[in-house]
Amino acid sequence: MTRRVAIFISGGGSNMVKLLDSMTGDHAGRACVVLSNDPAAAGLERAEERGVPTEVVRHQPFHGDRTAFEHALMGAIAKHKPDVICLAGFMRKLTAGFVDEWRGHMLNIHPSLLPKYRGLHTHARALKAGDKEHGCTVHEVTPVLDDGPILGQARVPVLPDDTEATLAARVLEQEHILYPMVLRRFLVGEKTPVFLES
Ligand code: GRF
Repeated sequence: MTRRVAIFISGGGSNMVKLLDSMTGDHAGRACVVLSNDPAAAGLERAEERGVPTEVVRHQPFHGDRTAFEHALMGAIAKHKPDVICLAGFMRKLTAGFVDEWRGHMLNIHPSLLPKYRGLHTHARALKAGDKEHGCTVHEVTPVLDDGPILGQARVPVLPDDTEATLAARVLEQEHILYPMVLRRFLVGEKTPVFLES
């Protein structure tokens, strides 16, 4: 049975594009909607070009009332009947109320080797710490930010002349491989983590 996948974005949506493009052939999933909290998110157009319905729920009108924002999110996606949500650069924290509703059915990609560097500025923090390796993680979403069972990680070396931008680009390249791979496995019930090296 085909699993319906919603993808939440806030920006360019390069991970979203990789997920959309991966869901063909014998893949168990098909995208049913791409949602953004920002109407200017470039990823919305990229989804529309691919014939995927889009929804926008701006967070500003809710003035920090996360529960009301999340009710609006639920309302916007309900008609698309998703089975699974993939957070792909969705820059809003979700409350336990929303997350618990989707427990076991919501994934996130985070640009660090969790449990290291939860939250923002992960590349700068890895550089500042003098780390020799860095990477990205796909995990199931639980109420704790950037936590939850790890489904896959990809490692990259940190090079001596790296800047935040060069390191971010090297990690993003791996995100684009890891997230589609993990989603494909997850939808057929494979939750053993995959580990990629480059
Ligand atoms: C990615 O680095 C993702 O890990 C992080 O935000 C970025 C989103 O990039 N959470 P894109 O919108 O998928 O291009």
